[in-house]
Amino acid sequence: METKEKVKVGLIGLGQRGNGLLPNILNNDALITCICDKFEDRIAKIKKIIKDKGFEEPFGTTSYLDVLDKKPDCLIVATSWNSHVEVALAAMDRGIPVAIEVGGTHNIADCWKLIDTYEKTKTPFFFLENCCYGKDEMLATSLARNGLLGEIVYCQGAYSHDLREEIAGGIDTHHYRLEEYKNHNCENYPTHELGPIAKVLNINRGNRFLKVVSMSSKACGMEEFIKKTPKYKDRLANVKFKQGDVTTTMIECENGETILLKLDTTLPHLYDRNFTVCGTEGVYCQTTKSVVLDDGRYDHEKDPIEKSFLNQKDYDEYLPEDWKGITQEQIDAGHGGMDFVMLKHFFKYIKNKEEMPIDIYDAAAWMSVTSLSEESIAKGSIPIECPDFTRGKYKNRKPLDVLSLPTIVKK
Ligand SMILES: NC(=O)c1ccc[n+]([C@@H]2O[C@H](COP(=O)([O-])OP(=O)(O)OC[C@H]3O[C@@H](n4cnc5c(N)ncnc54)[C@H](O)[C@@H]3O)[C@@H](O)[C@H]2O)c1
Repeated sequence: METKEKVKVGLIGLGQRGNGLLPNILNNDALITCICDKFEDRIAKIKKIIKDKGFEEPFGTTSYLDVLDKKPDCLIVATSWNSHVEVALAAMDRGIPVAIEVGGTHNIADCWKLIDTYEKTKTPFFFLENCCYGKDEMLATSLARNGLLGEIVYCQGAYSHDLREEIAGGIDTHHYRLEEYKNHNCENYPTHELGPIAKVLNINRGNRFLKVVSMSSKACGMEEFIKKTPKYKDRLANVKFKQGDVTTTMIECENGETILLKLDTTLPHLYDRNFTVCGTEGVYCQTTKSVVLDDGRYDHEKDPIEKSFLNQKDYDEYLPEDWKGITQEQIDAGHGGMDFVMLKHFFKYIKNKEEMPIDIYDAAAWMSVTSLSEESIAKGSIPIECPDFTRGKYKNRKPLDVLSLPTIVKK
């Protein structure tokens, strides 16, 4: 492929995320040549959007196998959680580079299938964890890499997102979360916070997850929401939800760090990922947008915590170039700009055959936390051992950040 040529993308899954990815793909160095969904009306809608934007109408199909037959330069998979692995395996088997959307898995065997197929075929694989490219996550990573936080000992994060309408609405939209929340009780969406934490802690690159322990609260949020929402009250009246409202998960790492995750999607809440990195010299907290270092700026006895809120802007010089030069259009195209930044780099990896900084070993380790947490909860919150999907290779793999970060030398 000529470097000047645009990357030809097959987009599988044309629901909420497929629609959201669309402008970020088209505004990048890429073309959508094939689209696929189980629903014909979703295919027709996306065909029209692409045509109305002045691009050639893509080939549309209800079977992802037809897309593979067209041999696009890469596949982007934005389907429901339970179908990512099947599509990724088929793509890798045919040598078509594949990127899958985020989500966990209930099945550790699926993670091993991904690893084995990748190791057999060596087909490029990327996990679309956009939060790894987020401005806040990149700032915290850069502070850590520049030594400002000292030795990192603990990280926490959350997926606090009021999804009650999305879950109940599945009765009309066919959204997979409705069945997931009825049938499973686990940390079902760990990677938005765990991905960037794993990158900071060099998981699979000199470090690894050892154990997972999870606990879930009772499940009341959805049933209360359904009772008070006229459009769902009768139709979902008898539905029981297995998924606890708040699931907390602890992970122990081989190099001695611990991680705390919170899944909180069925209670009223403003969106928060709470990405927090704590080290011997300071702490970064995304919720308060603050950096507190052991440098005398604050008096830890006298200053109220609010004094540090929103001070992260004082550290902008630590941001990577992509975030220093981002445009309003790129920010508006989705998730505050991180979708654009991630896809820009993904298409570059594909064109230049670069190593994927979020690879199959990362996907397996992060996705497996869903299954491990489910087992822990089902067995009374006992610790469950994490598989080493690298089969020992993590010991010699070198750390690799998703973007190159500035090195700031202070006099
Ligand atoms: N990174 C992010 O910020 C972000 C945001 C939202 C969703 N997501 C992820 O995107 C994925 C999709 O989520 P969504 O909310 O768009 O769901 P959705 O239900 O709105 O869309 C999924 C689409 O995939 C289609 N589909 C399912 N199985 C298929 C198959 N085998 N072949 C073809 N089409 C198939 C469905 O018909 C549906 O249209 C999930 O993995 C989710 O976690 C990521």
